[in-house]
Amino acid sequence: MKVTIVGAGAVGASCAEYIAIKNFASEVVLLDIKEGYAEGKAMDLMQCASLNGFDTKITGVTNDYSKTANSNICVITSGIPRKPGMTREELIGINAGIVKTVANNLIEHSPNTIMIVVSNPMDTMTYLVHKSTNLPKNRIIGMGGALDSARFKYRLAEALNAPISDIDGMVIGGHSDTGMVPLTSHATRNSVRVSEFLSEERLNQVKEDTKVGGATLTKLLGTSAWYAPGAAVSGLVQAIACDQKKMFPCSTFLEGEYGLNDICIGVPVILGKDGIEKIVDVPLSDAEKNHLKSSAEGVTKTNGLLEL
Ligand code: LAC
Repeated sequence: MKVTIVGAGAVGASCAEYIAIKNFASEVVLLDIKEGYAEGKAMDLMQCASLNGFDTKITGVTNDYSKTANSNICVITSGIPRKPGMTREELIGINAGIVKTVANNLIEHSPNTIMIVVSNPMDTMTYLVHKSTNLPKNRIIGMGGALDSARFKYRLAEALNAPISDIDGMVIGGHSDTGMVPLTSHATRNSVRVSEFLSEERLNQVKEDTKVGGATLTKLLGTSAWYAPGAAVSGLVQAIACDQKKMFPCSTFLEGEYGLNDICIGVPVILGKDGIEKIVDVPLSDAEKNHLKSSAEGVTKTNGLLEL
């Protein structure tokens, strides 16, 4: 199992680290345009191998796509991250050109790859990969919902004063401050709905804290987060590499599902060896349906800024 990660910045390097620590991939290639940077990150990570007990071979390359050849999975993290006060949508001008070029370079050397898009604005970048490559839709996956769901579970655990392992919950919709739809109607603590334990007001606070999860960290850190994004990507990569058939909310191209068309947005999917093997239709409350609809309108508006 060969995995390529483009962008050896904080998110890309965290992805590589978590994939290696989980020890399921034989090879990870980190690629960056900055001379020597990916090589340095790869060397530092490889020096963790004996300490952390993994056998995954991590190599770094400067913009040499031939070294990525025959990757089973490619992850695109390249582009600029947001700064405090910026929305993910404001990154589109710079990131669209980068993501389009990177995706096509990757496919040239790995025509059978499954591609995971992390660069922001993520749903629009996933749509761009869909429109500007010939990859079938099951092989184009946008990572946002897995991260947003982890942040939702963190906030639920905090509100319930419970361990995270007690909590289950999912965030669908666009990966943006207004677009995320935390499914409070489905969230549970050990299969009991969280609404049994939390007031509507407290649940609304959880929802709001979840939606601005990335912005809160960007303000604290001065740049966007990397540990949880890296861990979330590694979860998707592992589900595909190990054919786990796990359900995650991922951004995928919709053709009528959830009443939406010609858009990539987060919905529950089953991930296995073929990438997105199924889109799962879950019942939504009226409020969640309306929120998903307005979220989709926001993503479509951002997609309109692309030069396709
Ligand atoms: C975040 C970035 C990865 O939400 O979008 O932290």
